[in-house]
Amino acid sequence: MTANELRQKYLEFFKSKGHSIIPSDSLIPENDPTVLFTTAGMHPLVPYLMGEKHPGGRRVANAQKCVRTGDIDEVGDNRHLTFFEMLGNWSFGDYFKREAIEWSWEFLTDKKWLGIDPKRLYVTVFKGNDDSPIDRFSIDIWQEQFAKAGIKAEICPYGAPINGNADFRIFPLPAKDNWWGPAGETGPCGPCTEMFYDVEPDRGPMRKTFDEEVDEFRVMEIWNDVFMEFNKTKEGKFEKLKQKNVDTGMGLERTIAVLSGKKDAFDSDVFYNIFNKIEQLSGKKYNDSENVTKAMRIIADHIKAATFIMGDDKGIAPSNTDQGYVVRRLIRRAIRYGKQIGITEKLWTKEVAKIVAHDFSGAYPELGRNIDFIINNLKEEEEKFGKTLERGLKEFEKVLSVDGVTGAEAFDLYQTYGFPIEMTKELAAENGVKVDEKGFEDELKKHQELSRTASAGKFKGGLADASEETKRLHTAAHLLLASLRKVLGEHVIQKGSNITAERLRFDFSHPEKMTDEQKQEVEKLVNEAIEKNLPVYCEEMSLEEAKRQNAMGVFESKYGERVKVYTIGEGENMFSKEICGGPHVEKTGALGKFKIKKEESSSAGVRRIKAVLE
Ligand code: SER
Repeated sequence: MTANELRQKYLEFFKSKGHSIIPSDSLIPENDPTVLFTTAGMHPLVPYLMGEKHPGGRRVANAQKCVRTGDIDEVGDNRHLTFFEMLGNWSFGDYFKREAIEWSWEFLTDKKWLGIDPKRLYVTVFKGNDDSPIDRFSIDIWQEQFAKAGIKAEICPYGAPINGNADFRIFPLPAKDNWWGPAGETGPCGPCTEMFYDVEPDRGPMRKTFDEEVDEFRVMEIWNDVFMEFNKTKEGKFEKLKQKNVDTGMGLERTIAVLSGKKDAFDSDVFYNIFNKIEQLSGKKYNDSENVTKAMRIIADHIKAATFIMGDDKGIAPSNTDQGYVVRRLIRRAIRYGKQIGITEKLWTKEVAKIVAHDFSGAYPELGRNIDFIINNLKEEEEKFGKTLERGLKEFEKVLSVDGVTGAEAFDLYQTYGFPIEMTKELAAENGVKVDEKGFEDELKKHQELSRTASAGKFKGGLADASEETKRLHTAAHLLLASLRKVLGEHVIQKGSNITAERLRFDFSHPEKMTDEQKQEVEKLVNEAIEKNLPVYCEEMSLEEAKRQNAMGVFESKYGERVKVYTIGEGENMFSKEICGGPHVEKTGALGKFKIKKEESSSAGVRRIKAVLE
């Protein structure tokens, strides 16, 4: 089975169960200041799990683009990926455990769908703790499913060895394994049940504990059904949500590989064309040696991830901050590994990106739309890095001593030679010495007000915690876009936004620096709209209707057929109309005074405004 087939079958199956199919949301979280990237299918859907109405209805299914940067350094083994696709079906207060489990079983085992032999399936359930009891209900439903295939599904006591008992099918596990979420410190969460596939039934009956069989890759997880009925509060309490939700996640790359009996997430058509290109460029074969395999996996993963991030309609280019820094790090790391396996061609990364765009733009059309942006940025970054790399490596040799690399030296390599700290660390490790990371961080803080570095890009608050401040700034962003279009012209479209409790950052297309007069004019328009205390209201409509009403479609591919449109002001005072997921304040008067703090270049043809509400 190919990745495209699995994706299509999954969505088709859930369509047949009354789900509307929604396109992937952006990889760049819109209103969540606490993370750099969308890390799971649930992430963009948190507001709907909390009770907001989704334009697609109460049952939706999707394939969501995800990036997890926590494991970048692990990429190269057989299972870590920076970019991956997550297939998911969602119930926002609609169906719950019974349907979720029955449909999981049907999709996995029915000949019409995946047709997996039920004998190869094992499931885990939540074993209970002080916050929530054992998930007895899920156990019962699983037993009914296994019974359909004539399998007596017994519960294996936690921690007990399986000892060859083929009837042990259900494994209750603690919260660390079978409780999912919240995505941040607070928000929707709940017990989950995970489905595992026996990769090597030929090895005879399983004897060890379930955990051990998992660690040894005898069984591998393919799907996770989460029953989100709780909200974790700031105080660490678990309250019942007003609705019971289902969030399921199936990692596409892994599932494809596992189902064809591979333990290697790279061993599928998701990567074959990419590897072919890298083989061509390097003159090496994927299986030549362990080092070559590792390098090719890193290159494939990193260029693919960078291509998807830059191809995300938000104009993220390599830079020294936030998402741009991750892109830079991915590209530069790939280039280094390319050197290692003998790629001598100049400006080669774009060749790999073209394959990615070719293979994936069917499912993710934004890659096709943004291919020029991707290629140009790869070229530019590779040129930049090429120039500094030679000089930087010489410098690195100079500063390298048996005592390691000092913080100041590492910072100089970063600042002057464009060496990401991670690369300095890797080079140091190759030479058997350490880098003073703390010293580097101190230097960095001194020199830059880096709001969030890539390594700090972990979950903290989560959208559920979105304060009033971010809501106000979000509404301000709509006023800002409308004002920019009035002052600068209709060519202005939003390229991205990032909101923290303190400030709004807004990227938009415009070819040149704004003059002081233009900035003042924009501020004035926004503040006038605030002073008029305009109402903000939300309507649901079809995408066609939204377009007909000239709603600004910031990211057209974001939702399915039905969209939410936020209008600010009415009649003569209609100020702004945008397709948007919300939330927003009810009246603009809540905003206070709008002030532009900075206007600067973001990337080619894209300007960036930082603004606050005072
Ligand atoms: N949120 C769960 C996960 O990421 C299920 O989608 O595994």
